[in-house]
Amino acid sequence: MEILRSIVLVIHLIGFATLFGAWLVEATSGRREITKLMNWGLAIALVAGVALAAPWGIDGELNYAKISVKLIVVIAVGALLGIGAGRQKRKGSAPGAIFWPIGVLTLLNASIAVLW
Ligand code: HEM
Repeated sequence: MEILRSIVLVIHLIGFATLFGAWLVEATSGRREITKLMNWGLAIALVAGVALAAPWGIDGELNYAKISVKLIVVIAVGALLGIGAGRQKRKGSAPGAIFWPIGVLTLLNASIAVLW
């Protein structure tokens, strides 16, 4: 069970890496587009995160306040990805006010996970 939980944690981290990596490529290339890979990364991190939010394969208690905050942040990122993709379709590009918070909030979630 513990090994299975570790595997799900690795999948969770792959989701984080995919979302943040895809965002970083866009940020540094100057294109600043919302890409499908970001949606995939978010979906992987969300599904694996919800699986990790259940108390299995661990001895100690889970920090549900922390998990709730992470869930709210993920929902905000998902909303920004959706709104940004819509704007991109209609106007050709996503505004900076939508693009930049996606990376910042993703990093915030990783920081909450490690520091809280
Ligand atoms: C973009 C969104 C997310 C990012 C960047 C992220 C990042 C991380 C990272 C870096 C870890 C490893 C921390 C460690 O082992 O010290 C982790 C663990 C974990 N994450 Fe996430 N996460 C995200 C979304 C979520 C969501 C939506 C949930 C649940 C609703 C969740 C629940 C968990 C749980 C339960 C762990 C196991 C370790 C712990 O109890 O803190 N995560 N996350």
